[in-house]
Amino acid sequence: MTDPVADWHRLAATTVLLDGFHALKHALRFGAEVPVAVTADRTAALALADELAPDVRDALAALLTEVPHGTYTSLVPRPHPTAVAALAVRPSRESHLARLARTPRTAPVVVLDNPRNLGNAGAVIRLAAGLGATGVVTTGTVDPWHPTVVRGGAGLHFATAVERLTVGELPPGPLFALDPEGDDLRGVKLPDDAVLAFGSERAGLSPELRARADHLLSLPMRPQVSSYNLATSVAMTLYHWSAGFAAPL
Ligand SMILES: C[S@@+](CC[C@H](N)C(=O)[O-])C[C@H]1O[C@@H](n2cnc3c(N)ncnc32)[C@H](O)[C@@H]1O
Repeated sequence: MTDPVADWHRLAATTVLLDGFHALKHALRFGAEVPVAVTADRTAALALADELAPDVRDALAALLTEVPHGTYTSLVPRPHPTAVAALAVRPSRESHLARLARTPRTAPVVVLDNPRNLGNAGAVIRLAAGLGATGVVTTGTVDPWHPTVVRGGAGLHFATAVERLTVGELPPGPLFALDPEGDDLRGVKLPDDAVLAFGSERAGLSPELRARADHLLSLPMRPQVSSYNLATSVAMTLYHWSAGFAAPL
């Protein structure tokens, strides 16, 4: 019999923390490799699975080991209301780079140019997963697999290709950069192979990304409003792509 706590300590530094029932549920649905999962209340966790995730109930039952509540809280930075936590293997960068580079593409790639807010980055990954984007690329210093980003993404990093690249390494495809000074998005058909770039919360698009952009597009916004939140901007743009011209999910 393996010891889940010993496994946890052995693996924690090289794996991704799945914080809470929903993150674990999503990660399993999208094929994550999960070597260890613990809960302080296995009965409650499996009851949640019966109610919300019967498709992964058996996988959860096989994975989840009950540990004392104090042990659970000692393993995670912030206890989650569902008292479930797991560690997942981070998918290889090579496999993501191959997915991002593959053409023809059936759904856009989202680029966050030097995002600063980890919660925003997580929300964007959740959006990209929900709308079937090919991937989310970040530029700059933030690791898009940072635990706070993974928490914000609700375990949906495993449903899309998430990587950090430089502006010079962005995937192929026409680059549409979103900026309040651009042409109105509503007049434009976004192609499936689009690369959709969004600027940083503080400074907007970097000069490097602006220089590489094929088109500058704006979201409808009345005068006197300066800008939208980053994740909101991604939502509006991906929705515009999906509503008009994408194949059904
Ligand atoms: C919070 S905004 C950045 C605001 C920043 N102070 C600036 O000067 O651009 C973050 C990003 O969301 C996108 N964005 C926000 N509002 C937008 C709008 N009305 N039209 C197009 N893009 C927008 C842009 O990509 C922008 O760089």
